[in-house]
Amino acid sequence: MARCFVTRRLPFRALDRLRAAHHVEVWPERLPPPYEELVARAADAEGLLTLLTDKVDAALIDRCPHLRAISNYAVGYDNVDLDAAAARGIPVGNTPDVLTDATADLAFALLLAAARKLPESVAAVRDGDWLTWEPAQYLGAAVFGATLGIVGFGRIGQAVARRASGFEMTVLHTGSGGDSVEALLERSDFVSLHCPLTPETYHLIDDAALSRMKRSAILINTARGPIVDHDALRRGLTAGEIAAAALDVTDPEPLPADDPLLAAPNLIVVPHIGSATRAARERMADLAVDNLLAGLDGQPMPHRVGAAR
Ligand code: DGY
Repeated sequence: MARCFVTRRLPFRALDRLRAAHHVEVWPERLPPPYEELVARAADAEGLLTLLTDKVDAALIDRCPHLRAISNYAVGYDNVDLDAAAARGIPVGNTPDVLTDATADLAFALLLAAARKLPESVAAVRDGDWLTWEPAQYLGAAVFGATLGIVGFGRIGQAVARRASGFEMTVLHTGSGGDSVEALLERSDFVSLHCPLTPETYHLIDDAALSRMKRSAILINTARGPIVDHDALRRGLTAGEIAAAALDVTDPEPLPADDPLLAAPNLIVVPHIGSATRAARERMADLAVDNLLAGLDGQPMPHRVGAAR
């Protein structure tokens, strides 16, 4: 039996399979273990099941001499130092595919909500501001037939494109056979981000990128917060350089309630809920446990990321 540390409660049956095979300690709090606590708990672990909120860096890996497998409960893995893990021969797993549709649904929900000014309209009803049917109140942008630019045309980006076809949108995308980011930004009515966070995509959407976009454009980010420079976005929204933005991911996360970005107009922020359907989260737990069990068994992880060394 190996010792495993799971960094948050996962109220799904998959964890029973891990418990049946190994000794499992689960961090019991709602908030993530602080870094030093994570290091202390992981220090004797052979298996780690982490969340995207846990920083698994080279220093942590160094301080875990028994560590043999890391399973990240997310499709993104920018919180894990893959090189440091590979240098120790520790496989790292993620949870792709099972959250693709949930995340694409949320991207589209945000697109529609921002286009049709749903937050303002809901607030107006609650605030008693619905005085009558008015010809020119709450006017939004047409989605049907508009042009959608998808930055990052992997599994989730393609799933968003399939939804867009139902709205007869023209879809532009980056990547093979697609457009440059610059051309896409200039031509799109909606820009939806689906690329991983890497040194190349950090602050991909900065002042210069925003100034290329149409003044009527709407930006949607369900990928990773730091892909967007928040100061630039605040400036862009305030100056009317773009019409609106809808974010599921922010920098930092959580976004403090007094963050200056939240004072910007025409902004929707939701708390990183792209994969938050019961079905997706349950299946993520299944994959995360499958990865950890395989890694601890010395078998190939079903969903391993990074190159084996
Ligand atoms: C992921 O898996 O990377 C999402 O951001 C959260 O489910």
